[in-house]
Amino acid sequence: MRIRILGISGSPRKEKVSGTYKLVSTVLENTGLDYDLISLRGKTIGGCIACLGCAPDNVCKVKDDLESLREEIVAADAYVIGAPNYYSTLNAGTHAFLERWFQFRHQAGNLLWGKLAVAVGVGGMDGRFPAENIEKFFMYNFIETVAKVSGQGAASCYSCGYGETCKVGVPSMLYGENVKITPEMIPDVSKDPILMQAAADAGKLLGYRLKNDHDRKAVTRKMQRQMMQMMKTSA
Ligand SMILES: Cc1cc2nc3c(=O)[nH]c(=O)nc-3n(C[C@H](O)[C@H](O)[C@H](O)COP(=O)(O)O)c2cc1C
Repeated sequence: MRIRILGISGSPRKEKVSGTYKLVSTVLENTGLDYDLISLRGKTIGGCIACLGCAPDNVCKVKDDLESLREEIVAADAYVIGAPNYYSTLNAGTHAFLERWFQFRHQAGNLLWGKLAVAVGVGGMDGRFPAENIEKFFMYNFIETVAKVSGQGAASCYSCGYGETCKVGVPSMLYGENVKITPEMIPDVSKDPILMQAAADAGKLLGYRLKNDHDRKAVTRKMQRQMMQMMKTSA
């Protein structure tokens, strides 16, 4: 049976300038497997409204752009999901998208259990928070995160038009007042060879795990144990 990976870039920025999109693409390209890459940019996806309409049949009843993605989410063998860091957490768009995976969590709804994933995060300073947040979402559906990739992308302050004079913008906070923005100082994930290598390695690892006897039942048991542990120690 053909193995297929679903990639999701949760950045609302254009694909060409989005660090999240670039890193998710790099992970996918290195898996050696078939994949689809979908950007959430321009999509209207609201958060879970806790109506519990999905409890009997694991199908969300909210009508928005998530509806047409449900089939792909269910059909995929693995996920590569990335989000930008907004206020030290994943951005609202990706959060809403993943909240709606609540529809898969009821009864024996094992549609996602035991699948594999890579979590990606990009921040103007640091992308670790969104990558860690995404890993938690995966865990709630007993999906194993085989790797996390996170790095620094370009804060909007470099392109908003006020970056050289704005006193609270990232350029003046990093380089001092009256900073002159040069192309070299603008972070870009593709300028960071260590980060790009980490993304490629994550893709290779995901591809390897999927191609070499991926045992969904064993992964499910492992993730259930991890989740019980997490629930005992925090929440
Ligand atoms: C509303 C908003 C809040 C942000 N908050 C943070 C933050 O707390 N920490 C950080 O490192 N970057 C923050 N950023 C910067 C983005 O994470 C950064 O621009 C990143 O490159 C976006 O990813 P993208 O290129 O895939 O869109 C914020 C950006 C926006 C628009």
